[in-house]
Amino acid sequence: MQRLSIDLGERSYDILIGRGLRKRAGELLKATFDPSRVVVITHPSINSLYGEEVTENFVAQGWETDIIEVPEGESSKNLSQAEKLYDHLLELNCDRKSVLVALGGGVIGDLVGFVAATYQRGIPFIQMPTTLLSQVDSSVGGKTAVNHPKGKNMIGAFYQPRLVVVDLETLRTLPSNEYRAGLAEIVKYGVISDASLFEFLETHCKEILSLDHECLSHIIETSCAIKAAVVEKDERESHYRMILNFGHTLGHAIESLTGYSSFIHGEAVAMGMVRAAKLSHSMGKCSEEVPMRLEALLKKLGLPVEMPKLESSAVIESLYHDKKTMDHKIKFILVKEIGSIEIVDHMPEAEILKVL
Ligand code: NAD
Ligand code: GLY
Repeated sequence: MQRLSIDLGERSYDILIGRGLRKRAGELLKATFDPSRVVVITHPSINSLYGEEVTENFVAQGWETDIIEVPEGESSKNLSQAEKLYDHLLELNCDRKSVLVALGGGVIGDLVGFVAATYQRGIPFIQMPTTLLSQVDSSVGGKTAVNHPKGKNMIGAFYQPRLVVVDLETLRTLPSNEYRAGLAEIVKYGVISDASLFEFLETHCKEILSLDHECLSHIIETSCAIKAAVVEKDERESHYRMILNFGHTLGHAIESLTGYSSFIHGEAVAMGMVRAAKLSHSMGKCSEEVPMRLEALLKKLGLPVEMPKLESSAVIESLYHDKKTMDHKIKFILVKEIGSIEIVDHMPEAEILKVL
């Protein structure tokens, strides 16, 4: 098992990465915290795959343990689902020493984190991410949220978990498109801060796509370490944390303009990263080799790289609704070379239009 730490003063916590950790979550939690009761929150499909193995180990610590199911999908990330969870927690007499366990992907992690942040003004929670995206991104860093009809992740809080338990074995049951979507985020970490990670991905595509354990451990640990370092520097995204959004500015526009139904998040991010790299090149920030290498790697990993046909004006309009846009100024993350990026605080529309 690998142990990474994220240093945020009194909100510090460990990220544990290894095989079979789902069966040891109780004993791992006991080392840092002794809850009054445990409530695992998950989707029905994940419950049938892993629910029993996870709860058994909490029960083995002598803790009263319950499991609550939430329907699959982004549509569960809303205030009415959060309210149903508050009702359940009150029925179970959960108090401030109860711990919530988010067992699932980013939908479960964001929803449970939000409920933990707000129930009785905040109770502890742990992340047990089961998708590649949630293992390398959403479970680390404390962004929690639900969606509003007017926009994704519009209601939320920065609220850190007490522990993150990443069991690499759970990736074996993940659908392959979800797995590839997570790889897009790992490519992002290479682009924004680690040229050697990027080169490793370029030279180990076959092993990665066949879920080779050594390769997976390496790329997941490296990604979590990069994310932890960024969050340590700028927990509440005052500026620097925005680098994690490389490719996401256009990615979010693609998702929103295609009604969140044509592409999953990582696919949209892959397309967004290629355009962002092309934009960086067209503005003279990087050589032509950068977008070429990025596009080639994403293709090898089975990710889409060509943006769908969208009205340029609608794309620009959508960028003004991005949470990073302030004072009507579009912020954009550009790449200078693989492993190094630049945050542009006021990107001219005309430059973006050139690559749309
Ligand atoms: P998801 O949580 O919807 O999971 C995708 C699907 O995979 C679901 O149907 C789920 O039931 C299934 N699944 C999960 N683990 C499985 C497993 N091991 N085996 C079989 N099936 C499994 O999708 P996601 O991509 O993990 O998360 C997307 C969400 O994450 C979005 O809501 C996004 O806004 C959020 N997000 C948050 C952050 C953050 O920093 N908080 C960062 C990125 C994304
Ligand atoms: N997923 C981007 C962030 O956590 O800031």
